[in-house]
Amino acid sequence: MTLSIILGTRPEIIKMSPVIRECQRIGLDHFILHTGQHYSYNMDRVFFDELKLPYTKYNLEVGSGAQGEQTAKMMMGIEKVLMKEKPEAVLVQGDTNTVLAGVLAAVKLGIKTGHVEAGLRSYDRRMPEEINRVLADHCSDQLFAPTEKCKKTLLGEGIIEDRIHVTGNTIVDAVYQNRKLAKERNTLEELEITPGEYFLVTVHRQENVDDRVRFSKLLKGVEEVGKEFNIPVIYPIHPRSKKMMQELGIKTDGNIKFIDPVMFLDFLNLENGARLVLTDSGGVQEETCILGVPCVTLRDNTERPETLDAGSNLLSGIEPGKIIECAHRMLDGNKGWVNPFGDGKAAERIVKLI
Ligand code: UD1
Ligand code: UDP
Repeated sequence: MTLSIILGTRPEIIKMSPVIRECQRIGLDHFILHTGQHYSYNMDRVFFDELKLPYTKYNLEVGSGAQGEQTAKMMMGIEKVLMKEKPEAVLVQGDTNTVLAGVLAAVKLGIKTGHVEAGLRSYDRRMPEEINRVLADHCSDQLFAPTEKCKKTLLGEGIIEDRIHVTGNTIVDAVYQNRKLAKERNTLEELEITPGEYFLVTVHRQENVDDRVRFSKLLKGVEEVGKEFNIPVIYPIHPRSKKMMQELGIKTDGNIKFIDPVMFLDFLNLENGARLVLTDSGGVQEETCILGVPCVTLRDNTERPETLDAGSNLLSGIEPGKIIECAHRMLDGNKGWVNPFGDGKAAERIVKLI
């Protein structure tokens, strides 16, 4: 049987890497179809190189664009490849436009489809990701839910139990597989920062950075939290956020150290060494929970409530006073939480089920 693995963005490459490795290990015939949603070296190719993944058989080079335009171009390209290659199954991961395009193109051709990281919900339909998650879950044949909570959500939406498998999240596999390799790198030394003596920030969500008032307030909150604790703040800035800072003319007062996005191994080191992480990223909420690092999420909701239940994460929204309060609460709190996202064998289970 042939499996088509469809991906297109940074988190998909990282979270699919254990699945690709598992396919290689057991000799399952597969090929990677990259939509080209992400294309800058440090958002795309760097991860294939550092994680030693085979490069993609197809890259549609769709690039950036409006939601509908980007998704439609991907669907057209994916359909052509699937019609030519005729794989028995398609696998997608997460909640990006690549996922929606992949699932829609495949199911309409009658190809069995699996969705990795199924059953996550923010219940915020303003997020493009929420629409993508719901549609991907309802159209896919096999749903690989990271936790029992996600399974319950899917059952609550009327999805039949036979289609749902609780596997754990492949990000645990990716963290476990790369932790040791990361230790060999001098990430913190090169940035001249000391373990436990900095805060790490990532912000890139459309609803946070595309709005001038919201993004300015959020960055102000991040600056103030740095001042409150008298600690440097490092922000590997996503290209979307960098573009929006320029377009919207947003300036900061020099308290945040902006750096380019880094490779996964360096980012693991940055997370691991941070006293606190402030983020609106989905993957970063999970990784901090797995690594035992306190996290404050600069959003009003999360599709990862397991992190709130575990006690590794608090939702602050973007008001500076609330961000500072949450930072204090996380730093004063108990750090002995249990990782709810599985044992690092999610990819093995998923490939077996396929
Ligand atoms: C996308 C996903 C988001 C995910 C994020 C991971 C959707 C709707 N959004 O958001 O869920 O969390 O990826 O990082 O699918 N850009 C570059 N180089 C790149 C990629 C993007 O410069 O390689 C810039 C472009 O200016 C582009 C902007 O970033 O317009 C946004 O890119 P896009 O892929 O549309 O969305 P993301 O914000 O990356
Ligand atoms: N990441 C990275 N380098 C960076 C920032 C993040 O390798 O400079 C990794 C991080 O470890 C995580 C993933 O990118 O695995 C998260 O991606 P992102 O925040 O872009 O997307 P989301 O998870 O919100 O969809």
